[in-house]
Amino acid sequence: MTDPFYEPYDREDVAYGEEPSASLSAYLDQVGGGGKALDLGAGAGRDSIALALAGYHVLSVDLSNRGLERVLQRAVRAGVRDRVETHEIDVRDVELPADSFDVIVATTVLDHISPEDSAVLWRRMTEALTANGMLYVQVHTIEDPGSDQPPGVFSEAPVSETAGAVVNYFSPNQLAMMACDPSSRLRVLRYEERLEWDYTHGPEHLHGKAVLLAVRMGAFPAWYGEPAAFPRR
Ligand SMILES: C[S@@+](CC[C@H](N)C(=O)[O-])C[C@H]1O[C@@H](n2cnc3c(N)ncnc32)[C@H](O)[C@@H]1O
Repeated sequence: MTDPFYEPYDREDVAYGEEPSASLSAYLDQVGGGGKALDLGAGAGRDSIALALAGYHVLSVDLSNRGLERVLQRAVRAGVRDRVETHEIDVRDVELPADSFDVIVATTVLDHISPEDSAVLWRRMTEALTANGMLYVQVHTIEDPGSDQPPGVFSEAPVSETAGAVVNYFSPNQLAMMACDPSSRLRVLRYEERLEWDYTHGPEHLHGKAVLLAVRMGAFPAWYGEPAAFPRR
């Protein structure tokens, strides 16, 4: 199978850039780290490296061999090679024992697999979180101009060069409802549906996104929001 992300990850100016996802980064800055983290669909590793720098031992999982090579290159450069492991595997086949990861990140990968597979993976992810575990998820929504449903399908905004890999655009509130379902055993710290312009790869283009930051129900980390509201100095 050819890798649709090979070329975006092969560029010197690698796709998705160096900056980690904003809410994940805000959480790591405030709450800190340590323990085991899993980055599902890690790509070239912007979130994996932020997790390793925060002190986590990170397993970065992706189908793109070129992406995982870039993860390791970046880990060496950031001085965290000893805390980053990569595995070229389908996210649907990743072992997720109960109570095994302190952080699970899935930045735009639940939307790269079918709705049925996404639901199964979601359940396995939520079961794999530890008692103090944190979950960060981002998905494309039907607001995205690559979507086959309105409003995105009617948008004239430019579409991402990698939109062909997205097969499962999320509906309004869908990710929030998954997080609030009692069976997920999560407490939502932050949820947002938004538009965003992406300048990190190919011609500039628009995205519709849903973004979730949640912790295991019963966990109360020192989270002051994004941006942080009156944190203690
Ligand atoms: C939009 S990119 C996001 C990369 C990274 N999370 C980031 O935000 O920088 C989606 C990634 O998911 C990976 N991916 C898509 N389907 C996958 C699957 N079934 N198993 C593993 N990785 C997958 C792709 O190879 C790609 O690297």
